[in-house]
Amino acid sequence: MTNAHPVEVTRLYGTTPGAGRDDLWNALREHHGPVAPVELESGVRAWLLLGYHENLAVLQNQHLFSRDTRRWSEVAAGRVDPATARPTLSWRPNALYADGAEHARLRSPIVDSLARVDMSATARTVRRIADELVDAFVADGSADLVSEYADPLPVLVVNSLYGLPDGYGYMLGDLTAIVLGEDSRRGEEAVARIHQYFSELVVRKRERPGPDLVSWMLEHPAGLSDDEVAHQAALINNASHQATTHLIGNTMRTLLTDARIRTAHTDALLPTHELLDHVMWTDAPCQILPARIALQDTRIGNAEIRAGDALLIGFAAAHLDPAVRCDRDGGTGVSSGRRAHLMFGAGPHACPARELSRMIAVIAVTALQERLAGMRLAVAPEELRWVPSPFTRGLRELPVTFTPGEPVAPPRRESAEPGGAPEAEEADAPEDDLLGRLLHWWHDLRV
Ligand code: HEM
Repeated sequence: MTNAHPVEVTRLYGTTPGAGRDDLWNALREHHGPVAPVELESGVRAWLLLGYHENLAVLQNQHLFSRDTRRWSEVAAGRVDPATARPTLSWRPNALYADGAEHARLRSPIVDSLARVDMSATARTVRRIADELVDAFVADGSADLVSEYADPLPVLVVNSLYGLPDGYGYMLGDLTAIVLGEDSRRGEEAVARIHQYFSELVVRKRERPGPDLVSWMLEHPAGLSDDEVAHQAALINNASHQATTHLIGNTMRTLLTDARIRTAHTDALLPTHELLDHVMWTDAPCQILPARIALQDTRIGNAEIRAGDALLIGFAAAHLDPAVRCDRDGGTGVSSGRRAHLMFGAGPHACPARELSRMIAVIAVTALQERLAGMRLAVAPEELRWVPSPFTRGLRELPVTFTPGEPVAPPRRESAEPGGAPEAEEADAPEDDLLGRLLHWWHDLRV
């Protein structure tokens, strides 16, 4: 990667400021214009897009900017191995990393299967899962809303869309947490187990199809192989987890720490879905999205981009761009009312689950407000700790206190609703099937 003039390259790795990086994004824009050179890891360079319109243009133009990270010059130079790189820099055989016709072939079963999900039935499942998670701590008068609620909830919901009982969702959540954790040896084993999980899920659904995402992808006219369906199912799990967790966590933090927003919300001036938009503008759970690879030399702002350079989608920076910036200081301080934030992406890879994600987050936030009377932050706001990643803005934990309440114990295991979030399979894993054995392995590990 080169530039017409020698420029200072900003390191994105290292410390994670509690107040976020808004000052950094503004300073970079002032210094470099809409594109800044950055280092992702020691010696690994990329361009960070800071302008709203520049981000949008790159997301929408797959002819000039590829999603296939194997085309990155850092990969060609051997500085990054996309097979083993951290998730942000990796490549996997799924829709997210494909371009053009191959992308359309892998994406269409995902989009069409998500379109078959019965949103009303799923809304009831989300509320049932939210209530059960709250039931586990409501009598205590205190909880960590990240580890006990916002983290497990999305994975349990998506697991229900695979037609599996919650036990499998907890296993998947645990495995995913190990992958994202610090212990690389355990991380490698968890990656292998997750792959096994999805491969075996596909085997089970081939034998016993049902009204669920994997069965629908298997019967889709695109004709994906079993292995391809397993990879797309894993993508749905990965793509849905962290962003939804941190959207719920950041929204709860905003309500607990920002009196103006809380008042606007309780006075019904700011409905929950608009509150989510405010958080996606101001406290974007995904700060930076990696990456698009330039397919030919081009110029953006002052930057001379070379073919093979990586461009990072700067959501948080784009949302601060004076060209589109909302008035955050006037009136209630709310940045909602407009859904033009880029949080769900744009162009061919735009999130196919935008409405589902919104629904999950709205129900998750509402359930907490209804169930936890007198909810307060248990620590000073400045003591909250953040996930140490420049890509993500999310809390490690969100400790709260509240008036102890009673579990509601909603009725369990209603019959499966066609096209909905089925819960018909037995809670006890069948021993004769590899997926069931995997669940038994995980149970043994926990005791
Ligand atoms: C707040 C929650 C969510 C946010 C902010 C979010 C955001 C995004 C964004 C920005 C992309 C585009 C990635 C790119 O262009 O490189 C994306 C893609 C994707 N998302 Fe979401 N997402 C969320 C939840 C979900 C959920 C719940 C699911 C599934 C149930 C999901 C499934 C996917 C899939 C499969 C893709 C890949 C699409 C493709 O490459 O064609 N997401 N998401």
